[in-house]
Amino acid sequence: MKLIIVTLLLSLTLLQSHSATSPLSILQSYPHLSLSVTDYGATASGHQYDTVPIQSTIDACSSAFHLRRRPCHVTFPPGKYLTATLHLKSGVVLDISKNATILGGTRLEDYPEKQEKWYVVVAEDAAEVGITGGGVIDGQSLKFVRRFDERKNVMVSWNKTGACLGDECRPRLVGFIGCRNVKVWDVSFNQPAYWCVLTSDRKHITLYCSLHIVRCQNTSIHDVSIYGDFNTPNNDGIDIEDSNNTLITRCTIDTGDDAICPKTYTGPIYNLTATNCWIKTKSSAIKFGSASWYAFKGLVFDNITIVESHRGLALQIRDGGNVSDITFSNINITTRYYDPSWWGRAEPIYITTCPRDDTSKSGSISNLRFINITATSENGVFLSGSKGGVLNNLKFLNVNLTYKRWTNYTDGLVDYRPGCQGLVNHSMAGFIMEHIDGLDVENVNMRWAEEKTGKWNNPLEFRPSTVNNISLMNSILRLHRCLKFAKPLGSENTSLDVLVITLILDTKMMLMASVSEALWLVHTVNADAIFANEAVVSERARPTISDRHHK
Ligand SMILES: *[C@@H]1O[C@H](CO)[C@@H](O)[C@H](O)[C@H]1NC(C)=O
Ligand SMILES: *[C@@H]1O[C@H](CO)[C@@H](O)[C@H](O)[C@H]1NC(C)=O
Ligand SMILES: *[C@@H]1O[C@H](CO)[C@@H](O)[C@H](O)[C@H]1NC(C)=O
Ligand SMILES: *[C@@H]1O[C@H](CO)[C@@H](O)[C@H](O)[C@H]1NC(C)=O
Ligand SMILES: *[C@@H]1O[C@H](CO)[C@@H](O)[C@H](O)[C@H]1NC(C)=O
Ligand SMILES: *[C@@H]1O[C@H](CO)[C@@H](O)[C@H](O)[C@H]1NC(C)=O
Ligand SMILES: *[C@@H]1O[C@H](CO)[C@@H](O)[C@H](O)[C@H]1NC(C)=O
Ligand SMILES: *[C@@H]1O[C@H](CO)[C@@H](O)[C@H](O)[C@H]1NC(C)=O
Ligand SMILES: *[C@@H]1O[C@H](CO)[C@@H](O)[C@H](O)[C@H]1NC(C)=O
Ligand SMILES: *[C@@H]1O[C@H](CO)[C@@H](O)[C@H](O)[C@H]1NC(C)=O
Ligand SMILES: *[C@@H]1O[C@H](CO)[C@@H](O)[C@H](O)[C@H]1NC(C)=O
Ligand SMILES: *[C@@H]1O[C@H](CO)[C@@H](O)[C@H](O)[C@H]1NC(C)=O
Repeated sequence: MKLIIVTLLLSLTLLQSHSATSPLSILQSYPHLSLSVTDYGATASGHQYDTVPIQSTIDACSSAFHLRRRPCHVTFPPGKYLTATLHLKSGVVLDISKNATILGGTRLEDYPEKQEKWYVVVAEDAAEVGITGGGVIDGQSLKFVRRFDERKNVMVSWNKTGACLGDECRPRLVGFIGCRNVKVWDVSFNQPAYWCVLTSDRKHITLYCSLHIVRCQNTSIHDVSIYGDFNTPNNDGIDIEDSNNTLITRCTIDTGDDAICPKTYTGPIYNLTATNCWIKTKSSAIKFGSASWYAFKGLVFDNITIVESHRGLALQIRDGGNVSDITFSNINITTRYYDPSWWGRAEPIYITTCPRDDTSKSGSISNLRFINITATSENGVFLSGSKGGVLNNLKFLNVNLTYKRWTNYTDGLVDYRPGCQGLVNHSMAGFIMEHIDGLDVENVNMRWAEEKTGKWNNPLEFRPSTVNNISLMNSILRLHRCLKFAKPLGSENTSLDVLVITLILDTKMMLMASVSEALWLVHTVNADAIFANEAVVSERARPTISDRHHK
């Protein structure tokens, strides 16, 4: 055995490593060794299984890493490599060259017995591991479709042991579990068969993803593309779970389910940064949760383009984990309606915390910043705390929101799923707010692009709840055509108007402000009331508010 390893080492090529941007220790610091899978007998035929030769190459590479303390690349020359589950080991980088594709097997026997290990490529408790090379890992998800349906495909189920539910029994693509210093760069992930399921029993939670980072430290993901099927349920882009210090940059994600999705099951998430990404999804582009048993802290999302998605920036906190110190900046969003069987109601921004069920707690959400955001959407912003989980200290700065309808899907639903109140019939508004303490709105410009806003006449709506410390500064919240109370706003640079409202509301309030010219507060018990003229509104509103406050 020793002899074989020595012979192998002699045939290793020494290559100069070319990347030096991330802090990952060994992967960057030393020139790497490399071994080709074809030298170990891989056929690259695309139909004959290459599992054994590839795994042998990985094992040899990892041995070389341990002997030489240099990272080792397993190279895949152009061709298609059909394989069952591959186990990535410490010190090994899969180097899939351009025109090379790893194809995930589509038979149940291609995957380990335990359903939670059904990945095409998986690294467990490994360090200094990665994937690169310009090639593709393909999960062949279309082969798992039982019936194609534009609304939502019906998928096969490998429910043999009863460990998973219905069509949620499918393999996922790539997983790093309990790893340190992970680097994934310059690679595409296509057609993941599956991502994720949350079973109702907390003890048997299983999670599946196209790129799944679980309990890892120091992960860098850059120049990565993910193309999932748009109609296939449960195929996420990148799921980051219970992991610290993760950097994602220059990614393109086009998929059916959530694109970048931090979750907490067994521990917190600290320091996740995602920048320079382009996203399209039938679910949420950025989604926190819904698995949220532990904290989310220090997450930054910057320079991101979100197109034609069902939801833009979403916090779906349901299990008592607390969220704090989160920044979203320089983000362009378009959100639209899709079939309501997919979570999402075209909200550009959706912040919710409520207990999933009777046994759950609601986490708090504090110190969120939204800066330089532009959105065009079919629905408004939804900011919903709950009795046990008030939203604290939210800031919106330089935000332009344009509202219009362009699909034929029905509107007028507020979406609390999963759990909580489910789908609730409710008219739309620019912002719907409940259970908030501290909302700072500065340079926020809302406009309605069309007349079809019969159900949509409230710029700001406070739902019956506690709402405190709302500040509106230099913002323009205006309606076109639908209600004619707003004066045309000629000069943008008129004097700054500031309003601080401190209210305890026990009934629905409506407030309209066009601050660069004037400010009107309108109090109405009936949200659908129509306003008279500006002067009347302005005169009537202020005393009403203070009366209420002193009750
Ligand atoms: C993560 O990276 C930092 C910075 O390079 C390093 O100090 C730390 O030791 C790394 N953590 C682990 C677990 O390797
Ligand atoms: C990849 O395939 C294309 C088209 O077949 C070819 O032009 C190109 O040279 C190949 N690239 C590599 C790196 O093999
Ligand atoms: C999964 O399999 C178990 C046991 O074989 C069975 O009881 C259960 O109904 C199946 N569930 C689904 C959703 O297929
Ligand atoms: C992440 O950091 C937190 C806080 O230091 C720690 O409790 C947790 O164990 C860390 N997670 C991992 C996977 O190292
Ligand atoms: C998160 O980043 C901050 C600032 O860089 C650092 O002080 C802290 O140790 C990091 N947290 C974890 C858990 O690594
Ligand atoms: C923002 O991201 C795009 C790629 O999506 C990139 O081309 C551009 O340079 C980035 N801008 C900044 C300021 O980093
Ligand atoms: C958003 O759109 C504006 C105006 O079209 C553009 O200047 C900016 O670069 C875009 N930002 C992103 C992140 O795409
Ligand atoms: C969330 O914060 C509350 C209040 O500080 C605390 O009681 C609770 O334990 C925290 N939850 C978690 C999961 O850390
Ligand atoms: C919002 O619109 C105003 C005027 O239309 C423009 O000056 C500003 O740059 C826009 N801000 C963002 C973040 O798009
Ligand atoms: C917001 O946009 C302005 C103008 O483009 C820029 O100067 C500022 O740095 C941006 N803020 C953030 C937090 O990126
Ligand atoms: C909406 O319905 C109208 C009339 O039925 C149809 O002409 C139009 O193409 C539909 N629009 C979309 C976006 O599906
Ligand atoms: C919501 O409205 C629809 C259509 O008007 C109605 O069929 C449904 O029963 C309502 N649901 C609830 C929960 O009120």
